[in-house]
Amino acid sequence: MTACTERHPAAPDNNAAGEGQKGMPIEHSMTACTERHDVRCSLEDLDRSARRVLLTNWRGHSTVPAARLYPHQWSWDSAFVAIGLRHLSPARAQRELESLFGAQWSDGRLPHIVFDPHVPADAYFPGPSFWRSTAVPGAPGVPTSGIIQPPAHALAAWLTFQADPSTARARGFLPRLYPRLVAWHRYLTTRRDLTGSGLMCVVHPWESGMDNSPAWDAPLSRITPVPSTEFTRRDLNHAAAAERPTDTDYGRYVRLARDYRDAGYADSLRGHAFAVEDPLCNALLAAGEHALAAIAAEIGHDPQPHRSAAARLTHTLTTILYDAGAGMFLPRDAHTGTHLRSHSVGGLMPLVVPDLPVAPELIKTALSDRFRLRDACPLPSYDLTAADHDPGRYWRGPGWVNTAWLFWHGLRLHGEPALADDLRQGLLDRVRDAGFREYFDPLTGTGHGTDEFAWTAALVLDLLRVP
Ligand code: SER
Repeated sequence: MTACTERHPAAPDNNAAGEGQKGMPIEHSMTACTERHDVRCSLEDLDRSARRVLLTNWRGHSTVPAARLYPHQWSWDSAFVAIGLRHLSPARAQRELESLFGAQWSDGRLPHIVFDPHVPADAYFPGPSFWRSTAVPGAPGVPTSGIIQPPAHALAAWLTFQADPSTARARGFLPRLYPRLVAWHRYLTTRRDLTGSGLMCVVHPWESGMDNSPAWDAPLSRITPVPSTEFTRRDLNHAAAAERPTDTDYGRYVRLARDYRDAGYADSLRGHAFAVEDPLCNALLAAGEHALAAIAAEIGHDPQPHRSAAARLTHTLTTILYDAGAGMFLPRDAHTGTHLRSHSVGGLMPLVVPDLPVAPELIKTALSDRFRLRDACPLPSYDLTAADHDPGRYWRGPGWVNTAWLFWHGLRLHGEPALADDLRQGLLDRVRDAGFREYFDPLTGTGHGTDEFAWTAALVLDLLRVP
């Protein structure tokens, strides 16, 4: 177990947007869970440690997910970071989202990585020289990737606003962000509706956020991997190979990204060898339209189009991707029209959608042997009963704090405060025991992947602070 010992590091706080913080003495009250003892640290120490991780990973305008493994800005990571950072510095949380949207492409696409030009080229693969974004018309001056990540941003923006409306109003946060959020959703609902079904597609497993989920094995098996001799993985310098995707899967990721780049990042079903209608992304899009309705009302725009879009998405998502036999949502392969019949945590994520007609069924499935909500924590990324469940390998079994946080949010939305509170307590205990790890064995609690992981810290902070 890990316990917290008080220390006062001089963490860098080169924050140009530190103004307007709610009197939080961020430089003088930091504690790290640095030593192993037999007792759990207090919740106060956990809170201080979470703040320390966010301060350490802050780069002056945005937060890196982890200094060594992910040394740039990642899209959905920043959304989760903002949700926690709003408790520490509302202005900085706003800045986090603003800097991400500063790298939006003119077609509305929000890239999954915004590269920090000061980070050495060999620190991360695939870096700017692979994606070549700055040569693409409509891409920003700052180098980015060309793919996307799940659209958690409208929800994050609304929660960030709610943490401190007066600072947000004074900074013009929502009026500036709203048109960018609308353009982002428009990209997803038009250019990425590859089948015309009304659902968005992901065209690369990285876009799903759940890179090597068994859910993608079938469509990914059609992709010929680029030989591993043709590229150099950097992730294995910072994480154990047994906890990361295999070289074969990496070769397929590289093939898909290279083909997309070579097609000028054009979107069409024929052009994408991998195309999947994913429940997690579509659920966040629907929840995001609800958030956009609230944002529109706040800044004097008409919320009705967003309410209609949310209702439409919720209906289409449920009609097309909900599987009554499985009691959860299943992704659909856009090329074959068939559902991908593996049970991954993404299929429970539509619980974040208000007015979801099948919320009780999803909760029942989460409580079943497949996910064991009552004692497996964080919620496993993949079916505990499956023969190929691997509790330590990235998205093939371990639990992640972000998907557990989304489910916790959904439990509260759908009138299950007792279950939500148990989940909250379980998550806090896991992190107190194992530290701010990237993912966790859901049954033993062993931490895996990188340490000092920003969204783990941010969402712990949120779980500690939200009443
Ligand atoms: N998650 C991927 C990585 O591991 C890409 O975003 O680098």
